[in-house]
Amino acid sequence: NEQTFIAVKPDGVQRGLIGPIITRFEQRGYKLAAIKLITPSKEHLEKHYADLSDKPFFKGLITYMGSGPVCAMVWEGRDVVKTGRVILGATNPLASQPGTIRGDYAIDVGRNVCHGSDAVESAKKEIALWFKPEELVSYKQAQHDWIYEK
Ligand code: GTP
Ligand code: MG
Repeated sequence: NEQTFIAVKPDGVQRGLIGPIITRFEQRGYKLAAIKLITPSKEHLEKHYADLSDKPFFKGLITYMGSGPVCAMVWEGRDVVKTGRVILGATNPLASQPGTIRGDYAIDVGRNVCHGSDAVESAKKEIALWFKPEELVSYKQAQHDWIYEK
């Protein structure tokens, strides 16, 4: 079953958006497989955003992401990597559609309240970086057969 790494960034945690963000994934029908609050170290974040190390905003991004607790989550379900990105909205909130998390709760690209893996491969890497295997919980969703035809 496909999994993605979703995080409520420090601004989202401080602004009380953990609940609303979780609700969007829950209401869509996705299953929560892991969750924790963690203030990531600089080293951890440099690994997480390694692909962006050449960007001019990299240093600010690492400071922002390490400025407080992050709510790290793994969500599971059909096509959840791609659909998760749709639920989050465009990277720059000014371009995000209303109805998306960023389109409803953010203005500045440097304070865009949430993270979502951009591909199945990066989701695997990010889940392994943020969670120990035993922190991932496996269970049957009670409403599974009401969400999926098969
Ligand atoms: P994530 O889900 O956080 O990975 O965002 P993304 O996949 O939509 O975008 P990307 O991976 O390209 O960039 C990671 C993060 O860097 C973004 O979510 C922003 O917080 C930040 N970022 C991206 N572009 C800019 C920029 O032009 N300026 C600033 N200040 N921050 C940026
Ligand atoms: Mg990204």
